[in-house]
Amino acid sequence: MSIGRFSKNNTTDCAEDERKGKQAGMPFDKNRAISRFGSTIDAMAIRPIIRMGHPTLRRPARPLGLEEIGNDATQQLLTDMRDTLRDAGGIGLAAPQIDAAVRLAIIEIPGGSSRYGNLERMPFTVFINPDIQVLNPARAGFWEGCLSVPGLRGFVERPQHVKVAFTNRCGKAEELELSGFQATVVQHELDHLDGKLFIDRLADSARLAFEDEYQRYLEQPSP
Ligand code: NI
Repeated sequence: MSIGRFSKNNTTDCAEDERKGKQAGMPFDKNRAISRFGSTIDAMAIRPIIRMGHPTLRRPARPLGLEEIGNDATQQLLTDMRDTLRDAGGIGLAAPQIDAAVRLAIIEIPGGSSRYGNLERMPFTVFINPDIQVLNPARAGFWEGCLSVPGLRGFVERPQHVKVAFTNRCGKAEELELSGFQATVVQHELDHLDGKLFIDRLADSARLAFEDEYQRYLEQPSP
């Protein structure tokens, strides 16, 4: 998911994240980590983000097996997704968006003020084989954007209190309860795993706009 104006993150978070990951027993490639953070080798891997019209965005993705989660290919995919998300200045990315049809999505929301008001920070989080449960069906709407639907915004209403059960990047089962904007973001990302885009969720097709027109005519000042 994209929301337009966030600046890119620095790499300090990234290094901290990986140190934390290793302490927690994350099956992370030590040599790759050293080459990324301890030498001049630039192992950043930014992958192309596919756009609406590409068939992978419309196919349900397949679940990842537990052994697969710890293997080099999946860990590399996760690293590439994070690099790609940060490079694009987005807040969420699903594997199908880089043409990898597996049930894996990442979210990272920098805290602070934005067009959506004051956002609560969500640290880099990996959702593998996620399963979502709506805890309260009351909906609220946001003007969503998507890195695979560049240049467009659409108003989508979604439940604002959900629980997500998923496997984390260390292969452990986790649950997260999310509300408000974070609930919207996780539903947007998980939709990608089922071949759905935010434009499928518009209640009113008149509330789909190009970015420039959205900013000129439709954007409400943040509270
Ligand atoms: Ni998206």
